Amino acid sequence: MRQAGRYLPEYREVRAKADGFLDLCYTPDRAARVTLQPIERFRPDAAILFSDILVVPHAIGQNVGFVEGKGPVLEPVQSARDLAALDPGRTLDHLAPVFETVRLVRAELPEDVALIGFSGAPWTVATYMIEGGSTRDFNTVKSWAISHRSEFSILLDLLVESTSAYLIAQVEAGAQALQLFDTWASAVPAADFDNWVCGPTARIVAAVKAKAPDTPIIGFARGIGPRLPDYIRQTGIDAVGLDSSISPAEAARDIQPICPVQGNFDPAYLLAGGLEMEDAALEVLEGLKGGPFVFNLAHGINKETPPAHVERLAEIIHNWRASA
Ligand code: CP3
Repeated sequence: MRQAGRYLPEYREVRAKADGFLDLCYTPDRAARVTLQPIERFRPDAAILFSDILVVPHAIGQNVGFVEGKGPVLEPVQSARDLAALDPGRTLDHLAPVFETVRLVRAELPEDVALIGFSGAPWTVATYMIEGGSTRDFNTVKSWAISHRSEFSILLDLLVESTSAYLIAQVEAGAQALQLFDTWASAVPAADFDNWVCGPTARIVAAVKAKAPDTPIIGFARGIGPRLPDYIRQTGIDAVGLDSSISPAEAARDIQPICPVQGNFDPAYLLAGGLEMEDAALEVLEGLKGGPFVFNLAHGINKETPPAHVERLAEIIHNWRASA
């Protein structure tokens, strides 16, 4: 999950020099610097590339902006004509600066710190493309997808093609693992789950595996609870990111026998800090230690989080591992 970002003063300093958030994503030396900042501070075992899931719609030709205090704003896709204007063939040229960032980061990271590349999964990216930004209810994207089934499947296909090329190029530039963020998977109706979530993700996994068979792929489909085993089996992911609605005991019983898990420390505990945070972190570590796991947040870090809390959490994890 997010390591960089507005909770770190050194991030805000670099961000202030950039001409907006997307400019930061497309300026390799700055993007590399903010990728490395949390690694220098907290010494985790892996870094996550600094970029955003919305660079893919931008790359294929949609207007995308990030507005201060409002979040992402996109010119919404509403018709077959809007779709026809999108071209996944532009992906690699447009995103060349991101691949340069990957090379710069890999060259500077300590050898034993892995670099995780990422993208959004097609459904989650499509929600922003059709809603024109963040949404609470997903009414626009869901009703459009239902009433324009063939157009929606064309959009998912475009995203599969663009995302596959984008992830393969990240691996070629030096990413050692990949994560697919399907943050809004829980909004998908059960009847459409296979077509909108599992199918497109499975096609991306297959395309990446054909070129980079040894690169682990982590799938993060947030909020899907009981559908997780099905999601893991249908998509072919190597590991699964868990949100905090699953207890470590449930994950140990139901998920770890199928595949390694990543998670699932609620960022609200990190924001709160103190003994509550320490106990909750130990509960995750102790709960998942019977199987393969990567300790991580259950989703993105809150921007008010005191860096001292993150420092303390890293210390708890490092001490736990040293004594295990
Ligand atoms: O450590 C890292 O920061 C990794 C890079 C990363 C970012 N976004 C940087 C970012 C990653 C992995 C993401 C993923 C992402 N982006 C997701 C999926 C994961 C999740 O958190 O649910 C989603 C849904 C997005 C889309 C997005 N990007 C939103 C909704 C926003 C918030 C906009 C706002 O103003 O509140 C962003 C912006 C964003 N992406 C920031 C960062 C550090 C903050 C932007 C800033 O500096 O102004």
